[in-house]
Amino acid sequence: MSRTHHCAQLTQAELGASVALVGWVDSIRDHGGINFIDLRDRKGITQVKFDPQVDAALGAKATQLKPESVVSITGVVVARPAGTVNAALPTGAIEVEATGLEVLNVSETPPFPLDDIGGDKVNEDLRLTYRYLDLRRPKMRRNLRVRHQATKAIRDYFDSQEFIEVETPALFKSTPEGAREYLVPSRIHPGHFYALSQSPQQFKQILMVAGVEKYFQIARCFRDEDLRADRQMEFTQVDVEASFVTREDIYALFEGMLKKVWKDVLGTDIPTPFPRLTFADAMNRYGVDKPDVRFAMELVDLSETFRSSAFKVFQSTVAGGGVIKALNAKGLADLTQGELKNLEDVAKSLGAKGLAFIKVEGGEWKSPIVKFFSDAEKAAITERLGLAEGDVVFFAAAPWEKACAILGRVRLDCSALLQKRGKMTIRADDWQFLWVVDFPLMTYDEAEKRYAATHHPFTSPVPEDVGLLDSAPEKVRGQHYDVVLNGMEMGGGSIRIHQPALQKRIFEDVLKIPADVVESRFGYMLKAFTFGAPPHGGIAFGLDRIVALLCGTTSIRDVIAFPKTQKGQDLMAGSPTTVTPRQLKELHLQTVLPE
Ligand code: AMO
Ligand code: AMP
Repeated sequence: MSRTHHCAQLTQAELGASVALVGWVDSIRDHGGINFIDLRDRKGITQVKFDPQVDAALGAKATQLKPESVVSITGVVVARPAGTVNAALPTGAIEVEATGLEVLNVSETPPFPLDDIGGDKVNEDLRLTYRYLDLRRPKMRRNLRVRHQATKAIRDYFDSQEFIEVETPALFKSTPEGAREYLVPSRIHPGHFYALSQSPQQFKQILMVAGVEKYFQIARCFRDEDLRADRQMEFTQVDVEASFVTREDIYALFEGMLKKVWKDVLGTDIPTPFPRLTFADAMNRYGVDKPDVRFAMELVDLSETFRSSAFKVFQSTVAGGGVIKALNAKGLADLTQGELKNLEDVAKSLGAKGLAFIKVEGGEWKSPIVKFFSDAEKAAITERLGLAEGDVVFFAAAPWEKACAILGRVRLDCSALLQKRGKMTIRADDWQFLWVVDFPLMTYDEAEKRYAATHHPFTSPVPEDVGLLDSAPEKVRGQHYDVVLNGMEMGGGSIRIHQPALQKRIFEDVLKIPADVVESRFGYMLKAFTFGAPPHGGIAFGLDRIVALLCGTTSIRDVIAFPKTQKGQDLMAGSPTTVTPRQLKELHLQTVLPE
């Protein structure tokens, strides 16, 4: 296609030049018979002028133009008259006086406005149905570009560190330990299935046995999970594995990568090394293993204060081995009944029996429970929580992890309420990275009555804790680490087990997977480890999440060209769909639909 310039290129330097441009009609304005169109291509906008005084036929043709049509234009670059210069545009000092116009394709009227503000107001389903139009919006075009820049920075970084990118299969074997998998029926092997890879975890460890030493991959992963703003069924990991490394090596490697990405994409210097928080501290102070530390509002443990309280709910919780956690939402005593009810409902959805509170208003403690408190208890609350006029304190009495989780959620909701009132400011570009470390290797699954790996079963225990594997598995710490940014888990990984005997012991004796199941699922891996497996470790980052934060959006759908809806649908092409009986037969499948 013959174009001499793109639409962000022409300046006063080209005055008088004959040019040819192609693109979309971004907008049309009629100023007293003279038509101005903004011509848009991937780079920007150039104003084109059709003056009927200069060429009547061309001027008439321009009045017929429809927005979003594709046109080819020839013309001469002229200076805009004084007072009409647009300093915000690179091409704002000039316009193209049209001498020719060819309509390459006429556009229907788009179903929604394609500018940022207008487009943001429309229902997302409509945007996803017409994704090709949505992606024409400046914001979405920028998001795609940021994603490209971030991916390029990541590839350049790992290349500079002598890592090589290796692709691993999407069609893998079903190993139903992690999230639910997507199954793919085999035509050639009736009744047999592949699973779409949830992550390249096993392959990257095998690559270490293969002597690759430094592997990375921008890898597509598939998980049949309930979708949310930060979760898609199909997403992309920055996946890494290295041999002969310690946790410290991985921390430094990844801090370097994030530093480069933030510098290359945003021009921002993020300080390294990142602070580290143990899992226990994260839970105790913020009530969650991915804390947003841009604001304090920390949880306080008052279990000792209430050990022999007259308030039975608290006293009996402590007697039963539980804890009393509290937090002070400073300045939120003016919360409404409705807001309070919402907080209680959220707490209850997390298993709370109630959400006791104290509001301090007019010098008075307003609370349904304060009548049970002794003076010493009141003094302890005031002192430990820094309680003052206008504050509200919330309490959770429950087993440790539950009490933390309840208040962790209340903390986030209170911060949202305070921000709404203008009493708290949290900046999206206040980048507070941190490592969360020292997770327990195993978590007891009450429903299943057995231990499950907190991260995954390949994570190596902290060497000093290996002795506890049989006697107190819940006390064993794993060499697992997560990177957290502003309340979002960006990535996680671990130093792996590389000794087949220890790996077998974890599978069979700790996780209680029957020996024959271990053999059929992981036998090949255990075998590989008998041929000289180096010590190794790695990490995987959610690329979609990194890019979303770089773009200042909370939804990863905004940074994926063709995402699925919350219900797992592609509204544009229309998937999932039914298939023909013949296709099913070929795959040896029958469907049994729910009633
Ligand atoms: P993990 O399961 O923690 O670890 O995943 C790593 C990172 O991937 C991102 N992520 C997702 N992003 C979008 N949608 C999803 N459904 C989704 N699920 C996960 C998160 C998460 O931190 N193999 C291990 C890593 C390792 O041990 O090296 C793994 O997959 O940002
Ligand atoms: P009750 O004695 O059940 O009426 O509870 C008195 C107050 O304590 C109410 O405000 C409840 O919401 C609250 N409450 C009850 N159980 C708990 C709990 N486990 N943790 C925190 N608050 C609770």
